[in-house]
Amino acid sequence: MHSRHFLSLLDLSPDELRTLLLRAIELKKHLKAGQVHTPLARKTLAMIFDKSSTRTRVSFETGMIQLGGQAMFLSPRDTQFGRGEPIEDSARVLSRMVDAVMIRTFEHDRVEMFAAHSSVPVINGLTDLYHPCQLLADMQTWLEHRGDIRGATVAWVGDGNNMCHSYINAARQFDFRLNIACPENYFPKSSVVKPAGDRVQLMTEAAAAVEHADLVVTDVWASMGQEKEHGARQDVFRAFQVNEALLAMASRDALFMHCLPAHRNEEVTEGVLDGPQSVVWDEAENRLHAQKALLEFLIV
Ligand code: CP
Ligand code: NVA
Repeated sequence: MHSRHFLSLLDLSPDELRTLLLRAIELKKHLKAGQVHTPLARKTLAMIFDKSSTRTRVSFETGMIQLGGQAMFLSPRDTQFGRGEPIEDSARVLSRMVDAVMIRTFEHDRVEMFAAHSSVPVINGLTDLYHPCQLLADMQTWLEHRGDIRGATVAWVGDGNNMCHSYINAARQFDFRLNIACPENYFPKSSVVKPAGDRVQLMTEAAAAVEHADLVVTDVWASMGQEKEHGARQDVFRAFQVNEALLAMASRDALFMHCLPAHRNEEVTEGVLDGPQSVVWDEAENRLHAQKALLEFLIV
């Protein structure tokens, strides 16, 4: 049971994270140059999805194939996970067969419990609490466009959700300042905010958060599992839309990121999403490269 897991950004040291991002950039360059690199030949990754996914599924599956291995998609609909086999038992069984497991689910406790009983590395592919793989891609994207993020100011605008929590952990690990603007009652969990100290500032005005920001980030107003709240949240979050006027209040060369999928003209306007400051397509592509570096780090 001595495997390293990646359940949150705090599972790797700042140095390990930096090395991993540099490796991701290197792997991206090699891939584009047509180099074949298959250190994971005959290795398998099991991917358990209790929630929908496009990017996470395709990037892990493609990544494993490019590294010489294979990924398998497991859904609760047609496995015993959906029929109540205890997580501990599933972890014991799967980890006797595969070389790593990626899980996307609801409660974060579930991935923690799985990892506690797994003899192979477990990767968090998104829980209600965190989405650390997305942050690897976001930090790689920043590094490619702007260099070291240390000391920069990042503005999170919108819901204090799993992505926001992962940005808080990123602020700790990569040492940047994070302004978070949310409607009252939608702030991130204080158990995640508090350990970040004064690097993280909570605000209720989007304009205050983006002032001097070098990077502006948002996400959907209702996450997976909150579909029923979607209508009610429209009114609550209206003042937190990232639009051209808001982005203009940030630093002149500020970048815009969104983990996607985006609801165009809801949390972000089409003009911003498709505009010159948006790097969302690089960000999405980098899921592939960053996770290949992660798989190499955990499995090889
Ligand atoms: N950003 C992200 O995780 O996308 P998917 O839900 O499509 O995997
Ligand atoms: N916060 C969103 C992110 C989707 C990638 C969700 O959890 O649905």
